[in-house]
Amino acid sequence: MTTLLHIDASIRAVKNDNPDHDSISKNIAKRFIESVTQQQSIDEYIYRDVGVNPPPFITQDWIGAVFTPDDKKTAKQQQLLALSDTLIAEIAAADIIVISSPMYNYGMPAQLKAWFDQVVRINKTFDFDLARGDFPLQPLLGGKTLVVITSSGEFGFEQGGIREHMSHLVPHLRTLSKYLGVSTIHEIASEYQEFADIRHQQSLSNAYSQATELALQLTNMAI
Ligand SMILES: Cc1cc2nc3c(=O)[nH]c(=O)nc-3n(C[C@H](O)[C@H](O)[C@H](O)COP(=O)(O)O)c2cc1C
Repeated sequence: MTTLLHIDASIRAVKNDNPDHDSISKNIAKRFIESVTQQQSIDEYIYRDVGVNPPPFITQDWIGAVFTPDDKKTAKQQQLLALSDTLIAEIAAADIIVISSPMYNYGMPAQLKAWFDQVVRINKTFDFDLARGDFPLQPLLGGKTLVVITSSGEFGFEQGGIREHMSHLVPHLRTLSKYLGVSTIHEIASEYQEFADIRHQQSLSNAYSQATELALQLTNMAI
């Protein structure tokens, strides 16, 4: 029984009239998904393109609804949380979560952050207890595998890389992943897009190979 939740975050489409405009992160994620489904059948595949169809930003009323006990929520508050409820149910159902994301301004796109703000929610994906001292938040979900697929124009964002200090995309996703119930993370990065040189070709080709190999590895482990 495997449920796969696939979140794409680029504002670019998988396929465009001009292939130079195709989203790199979405295409690597597509390769991963296709490789998984070639190896084994998936019970449920849930797809969201939050880059093209972003969830709304949360509001003060949204926070008010979140902190209102369920039996006191008005119909309007329930409606306000309906999308959040659905997105959280998708995460809860997933065994594997694939998040593909471009790097925008050294971090994640606002569209993907909007999705995280909808799903990292008290008493749904984490609870809060001051009895835990300085670390009162505790995730409520667990046991999931996360595959993070990223594309950047520059390079050197890895540990020890020349832009490690500017790397706010993957580290942020790592931090947030525990509130999705993630216990294992796999990361695939394509870099150098803006240089459009041999280094980009190699990085891209490596990322595609890693996506295929990871699919094989995870299906062999009977995900
Ligand atoms: C608005 C915007 C901001 C970007 N900011 C960065 C950045 O801070 N660092 C970087 O290395 N590349 C940056 N890039 C380049 C993208 O990360 C790169 O084009 C990547 O391939 C986009 O992902 P996609 O191909 O999946 O759409 C930016 C691109 C855009 C459109």
